[in-house]
Amino acid sequence: MKTFYIETFGCQMNVHDSEKVIGTLISEGYTQVETLEQADLILYNTCSIRDKAEQKVFHRLQQFKKEHGKGKMFGVLGCVAQQEGERIFERAPHVSLVAGSASYTKLPQMLVQLEAGNRRVTGLDLDTEEAFETAFTRRDNPHRAYITIIEGCDKSCAYCVVPFTRGPERSRTSASVLKEARELAAMGYKEIQLLGQNVNSYRDPSPAGWDFARLLREMGQVDGIRRVRFTTSHPRDFVKDIVDAIDENPVLCNHVHLPVQSGSDRMLERMQRLYTREEYLRRIGWMKSARRGISITTDIIVGFPGETEADFERTLELIDAVEYDSMFSFKYSRRPNTAALALEDQIPEEEKTRRLTILQERQRAIQIRRNSELVGTAEEAFVEGYNQATGQWIGRTTQNRTLNFLHPEHARPQNGQTLIGKFTSVRITRAGPNSLAGEALTCV
Ligand code: 5AD
Ligand code: SF4
Repeated sequence: MKTFYIETFGCQMNVHDSEKVIGTLISEGYTQVETLEQADLILYNTCSIRDKAEQKVFHRLQQFKKEHGKGKMFGVLGCVAQQEGERIFERAPHVSLVAGSASYTKLPQMLVQLEAGNRRVTGLDLDTEEAFETAFTRRDNPHRAYITIIEGCDKSCAYCVVPFTRGPERSRTSASVLKEARELAAMGYKEIQLLGQNVNSYRDPSPAGWDFARLLREMGQVDGIRRVRFTTSHPRDFVKDIVDAIDENPVLCNHVHLPVQSGSDRMLERMQRLYTREEYLRRIGWMKSARRGISITTDIIVGFPGETEADFERTLELIDAVEYDSMFSFKYSRRPNTAALALEDQIPEEEKTRRLTILQERQRAIQIRRNSELVGTAEEAFVEGYNQATGQWIGRTTQNRTLNFLHPEHARPQNGQTLIGKFTSVRITRAGPNSLAGEALTCV
């Protein structure tokens, strides 16, 4: 029996890639195991978006080889694999498979080579027209499923490795996306999250030629699917029709993650983001004037080369103006191959930390204020879990807020009865910066 163990780092795209890799391995006769010790083949699906990702991967591979590595095979997948390529064989000679995401369609052939004793199997070709489609995806969560609609990225943000690690954009046909969605609905899934580095530039390659808003509308019509989310959006390609689609159909979740990165035009230009602050705010305006309250979240980078105190102030002013419901914020980190490597005026680490702290404190206050406005209202929660320690069910609102709640008739999962995977209306009684708490009204 051939066994494998897989560890995954990085974004939802990576998590979902692993689901597809796992399914492919199982269909090729492998069995997944839960510990490194039990496995013949050990796979790391890696991320290289920030920090010293490659060093961390090498360190881990080295450590593992020393402690448990006898007679096992190692494979490095994902963004570090694509970025470092065959250098991985030099620095970690016990690795025998190095493959980036654009090569996963060739995984069965790569496995055959590994089994034949080839100790330097690679999948590093980025020049692909295909997206990774497989009928074998192994989803862990039985209620909420990811569907990739577009892979790769054709933008060239000056700080970003993704175009180098995930290759050019490839959209799946709308027919194939919808078929997958209908199959998931038939299996009982209630929520679908559409994935892509830039979902807004989705373009159906079949003659139908649908754009993203059209695909979104059709997804909202799939019988049995109660919620559809999508991530991530690039402001340049985010059109008003997407907001209109959300306004028309409550199945489409009223949450948009629209990374701004900086509030300063000078920085946006240096970052090659292809929009100005004003253009970005126009998109925010469409959402703020929608009939449904649309929750808006973002990503921000502080300390990009050349960022002055005045540039940083513009970012603070922007977050005050938009009042985001949530934010991921990062210190700029230099990445291999990227255009920003050539820029002068690197910001000292302590200064980046100072700015990040200020930004996060400012945002925390906004979230406390916005969340507390919801106290007293009722929200529909999709139940995802149960917290033994607090006795609360863990749910998520359509706006993507975490909502922990007590249920008068279902204090806990028992006798095979659980609320997980169900929708429940909850009255909000308390609010924190990162979550809401409440009490269930009815069970739908
Ligand atoms: N340094 C810091 N943050 C980065 N991001 C992407 N590349 C870098 C980098 N080199 C952030 C951006 C992006 C999010 C996924 O990660 O904010 O939106
Ligand atoms: Fe990390 Fe970006 Fe690769 Fe996702 S696409 S795994 S965030 S480097």
